[in-house]
Amino acid sequence: MKTINIDLAKRSYPIHIGQNLFENNDLVAKYTTQKKIAIITNETIEPLYVPSLKRLLGEKEVLVIALPDGEQYKNHESLNVIYDELLTHKFGRDSLLIALGGGVIGDITGYAAATYMRGVDFIQVPTTLLSQVDSSVGGKTGINHALGKNMIGAFYQPKCVLIDIDVLQTLPDRELSAGLAEVIKYGLIRDAAFFAWLEREMVNLLSKSPEQLMYAISVSCENKARVVSEDEFESTKGIRATLNLGHTFGHAIENVMGYGNWLHGEAVACGMVMASYMSMQLGWVTAQDFDRIKALIKTAKLPIDPPDINQVQFMELMRSDKKAVQGKINLILQKGIGHAFLTNDYPHETLLDTINQKVF
Ligand code: NAD
Ligand code: GLY
Repeated sequence: MKTINIDLAKRSYPIHIGQNLFENNDLVAKYTTQKKIAIITNETIEPLYVPSLKRLLGEKEVLVIALPDGEQYKNHESLNVIYDELLTHKFGRDSLLIALGGGVIGDITGYAAATYMRGVDFIQVPTTLLSQVDSSVGGKTGINHALGKNMIGAFYQPKCVLIDIDVLQTLPDRELSAGLAEVIKYGLIRDAAFFAWLEREMVNLLSKSPEQLMYAISVSCENKARVVSEDEFESTKGIRATLNLGHTFGHAIENVMGYGNWLHGEAVACGMVMASYMSMQLGWVTAQDFDRIKALIKTAKLPIDPPDINQVQFMELMRSDKKAVQGKINLILQKGIGHAFLTNDYPHETLLDTINQKVF
């Protein structure tokens, strides 16, 4: 097992990555000392992993809250279901919430933990590749609003993250690819050597080889841990903001296409191609590196071309993204592979040219 620490003074916590974690009594026992525990999950994951997790929790009082499955349920209604259940079962401030699932469950459980009785402990047990390498780490929690994705939320760190790579064996291939988009992101924004490793090993990752999965998840979490430790609250310094490479383009795509039709990771993958195309137009990425980026994303079975969205709508959606300041669209752009930065200093025409490009 590998352990990576998120260094945030009093809010520091470990990420444990390994196999057979659901059989490791000692590890789970260490982080579940509370008397009352609620496992928050969804209806797909419940039959797969709740029985073994419950077995490990032994005699404790365990409440299982299984939400319907889907991004459309990351909303106020589901949040109220969680509050209702916790209050009905008399959960106090000394209880523990366990987020068992992908990013949807992790985000909503984290926000429930941040707000229930002004804050209770929670741990993340992520079960998708995307949540293992990104959403379970770093304390961004929240829900969607009818007027925008992730618009309601809080920074609230878990007590630990337990990553069992074995659970990926039941993950559908399309979801695995969506997670690979965020893995590729770390190579693009800050780790050129990792990007080159991904070019060599993508085929093994797609076939879920444990050795390669272990390495890719560990390197991704190490990169995320360093970024979050340097800039926990996404300050204007723009360090944490680099984790949003491709996301402003991607959120616009997700929004138009309807959540769930394009998965978050798919929209981010296409958004990263758009950001690197724009960086190439500005002379910051070579044509050769742009080809490498497209090739890796394609090999990961992810889309590189955006759906047909008209310019006015695309711009409107990008302006309403959280990262826009006074109507100016902040973007994460690249200088080569392995370096990304936050900027709104670019010619408007280059952005228009990028969103009007239909085939990359
Ligand atoms: P998800 O949570 O919807 O999970 C994807 C699908 O896989 C679901 O149908 C789920 O039931 C299923 N599933 C999960 N684990 C499984 C397993 N082991 N076996 C079989 N099926 C399994 O999607 P996601 O991609 O994990 O997360 C996307 C969400 O994460 C979005 O809401 C996005 O906004 C959020 N996110 C948050 C952050 C953050 O920093 N908080 C970062 C990135 C993304
Ligand atoms: N996924 C972006 C972040 O954690 O900041």
